[in-house]
Amino acid sequence: MTGQPFPSRRAVLESAGIAAITLCLGGCAAGSGTSGSGGSGPTTVAAADIPVGGGKIVGTFVVTQPTKGTFEAFGYLCTHQNLPVQQVSDAAIICGRHGSSFSLADGSVLTGPATKALTKATVTVNGDTLTIS
Ligand code: FES
Repeated sequence: MTGQPFPSRRAVLESAGIAAITLCLGGCAAGSGTSGSGGSGPTTVAAADIPVGGGKIVGTFVVTQPTKGTFEAFGYLCTHQNLPVQQVSDAAIICGRHGSSFSLADGSVLTGPATKALTKATVTVNGDTLTIS
């Protein structure tokens, strides 16, 4: 019998390395700054998706529109225990874990146990698109 019936260990390891690199290029790039990605870079959202007098959790941000045409954004981590807030109502940004709520207009605490405002983020309006960073 001549030749190897199975690929060498070296060939298998090289193939696995190429597959891992391919997966990272596809998967890693998809999470960097695309709309609602949850990544740490800038995030975009359509202004029309943010309700007047309310808001929406977009990636790692909470984007609000307290009054028509005025947009605000905050980091989505509750300042009580650094866990993500879960909901934006027509009155507040709500962390249901222990009941804290925050102002749509400035992220300040409305009800505890949190004692510090949400971290302010920057909203840049470009036509119908909001970029949050
Ligand atoms: S983590 Fe938000 S209220 Fe406790």
